[in-house]
Amino acid sequence: MAVQRRRLKLGVTVLTINLFIFILIFRHSSQDKNGRHSVRIPSEPFWAKLLPNSAYWNRLQQIQDLQNNPILTANLSDTGLPYWATETNLSSEPCKHNNRVTTQVKDYNSLPSRFKDFLLYMHCRSYPLMVDQPHICKEPPFLLLAVKSQVSHFDRRQAIRQSWGGAGVVANKTVVTVFLLGNATAWDHHPDLSSSLQDESNRHNDIIQWDYRDSFFNLTVKEVLFLEWIQTRCPNARFIFKGDDDVFVNTYRILDFLKGLSEPKARDLFVGDVITEAGPHRDKKVKYFIPESMYVGKYPPYAGGGGYLFSGDIAARLRSVSQHVPLYPIDDVYTGMCLKKLGLAPEKHKGFRTFDIEEKYRSNPCAYKSLILVHPRTPQQMIQIWTWLSSPDLNCQ
Ligand SMILES: *[C@@H]1O[C@H](CO)[C@@H](O)[C@H](O)[C@H]1NC(C)=O
Ligand SMILES: *[C@@H]1O[C@H](CO)[C@@H](O)[C@H](O)[C@H]1NC(C)=O
Ligand SMILES: *[C@@H]1O[C@H](CO)[C@@H](O)[C@H](O)[C@H]1NC(C)=O
Ligand SMILES: *[C@@H]1O[C@H](CO)[C@@H](O)[C@H](O)[C@H]1NC(C)=O
Ligand SMILES: *[C@@H]1O[C@H](CO)[C@@H](O)[C@H](O)[C@H]1NC(C)=O
Repeated sequence: MAVQRRRLKLGVTVLTINLFIFILIFRHSSQDKNGRHSVRIPSEPFWAKLLPNSAYWNRLQQIQDLQNNPILTANLSDTGLPYWATETNLSSEPCKHNNRVTTQVKDYNSLPSRFKDFLLYMHCRSYPLMVDQPHICKEPPFLLLAVKSQVSHFDRRQAIRQSWGGAGVVANKTVVTVFLLGNATAWDHHPDLSSSLQDESNRHNDIIQWDYRDSFFNLTVKEVLFLEWIQTRCPNARFIFKGDDDVFVNTYRILDFLKGLSEPKARDLFVGDVITEAGPHRDKKVKYFIPESMYVGKYPPYAGGGGYLFSGDIAARLRSVSQHVPLYPIDDVYTGMCLKKLGLAPEKHKGFRTFDIEEKYRSNPCAYKSLILVHPRTPQQMIQIWTWLSSPDLNCQ
């Protein structure tokens, strides 16, 4: 009893002191010298003047954001934009090389040539289709498998057709496979394989090719062209897997996974091997090197480009938002940037193994049963693993 009463007393004392302090502060802050209530108006605006970012990509994004800001544009003519935002208007450029980047990017002249090529053409997003399959989605697929390939990779494509990309009906669901190609140009000393490609396309009807230079930094061009293509040729695909031609994909497992999703989950689906808290490499020797004059800041979460799975609904949203995000030379980071702009983030799924599985499990058929993607695999390995998984005798606990 005594203990309880002492506690109560202590509590009341603390409360009283708090109330006293509160009244003191309140009287002090709400009255000026004459004892009247006052509203304090800051002498300077509380927003900062928008200064141009020193990195080219960030600056282009700032400009896009200004131009798409509904509050500003309601009232604004070009004269209302800061001077630096009008001098870099890329949306008005025709698709020929843009020489202004040579002065607008600080160290342009000392950059490796792949950056120069990228910068000169980064405002170009539209290239003509050379090979198309306009009727491939006549029956809307439940799952569209889109494989990034290159003209010369005939064996990889054939292995995919004979294994995980064998188009048709799997587990009662329509699955359609397409291969996404750019042009292998003589400029890059590629042999002319166009007639072999034409034969392949006539035979299998699964090749999509655009006329642009197929290079690593142009994979983002492939991404935006593909998003456009989906809207015109395959707008009713329920789900889309997009990945490289050196991965093994367990199509059975994908269909299983998709069938188990709730409706809201299915609509916003974007899963893969998600990388968070990454940023640009600043070491010139790394394939993913990006100079500071081009991009500053962290990368948003993104799914590794080896392969990811998303809904047709997201594909449509990505396509429209991508028009407001400047192209970035690394395609999977770019898709992460677009998702971020949509207010979404990709979700990590343990079945995507873009960094392979432990060596001791690689020849164990059962290791692949619950996985969605394993990278890298040769054409022969793809066929081998698919044979294992398709066997009625496969018995895994
Ligand atoms: C819009 O323009 C009017 C008239 O020039 C101005 O008074 C108002 O502050 C402007 N609003 C914005 C959001 O800039
Ligand atoms: C940029 O170019 C587009 C397309 O020509 C035009 O509609 C827009 O008004 C321009 N914006 C600025 C700020 O110059
Ligand atoms: C396949 O789909 C048809 C029609 O929707 C259905 O009748 C049949 O039971 C399904 N078969 C399997 C194995 O799920
Ligand atoms: C594609 O590249 C080849 C080889 O360099 C070239 O001959 C051709 O003009 C390019 N474009 C088309 C549409 O084939
Ligand atoms: C991308 O493709 C365009 C069109 O073929 C080409 O002009 C440009 O140099 C390419 N960019 C890179 C980085 O290869």
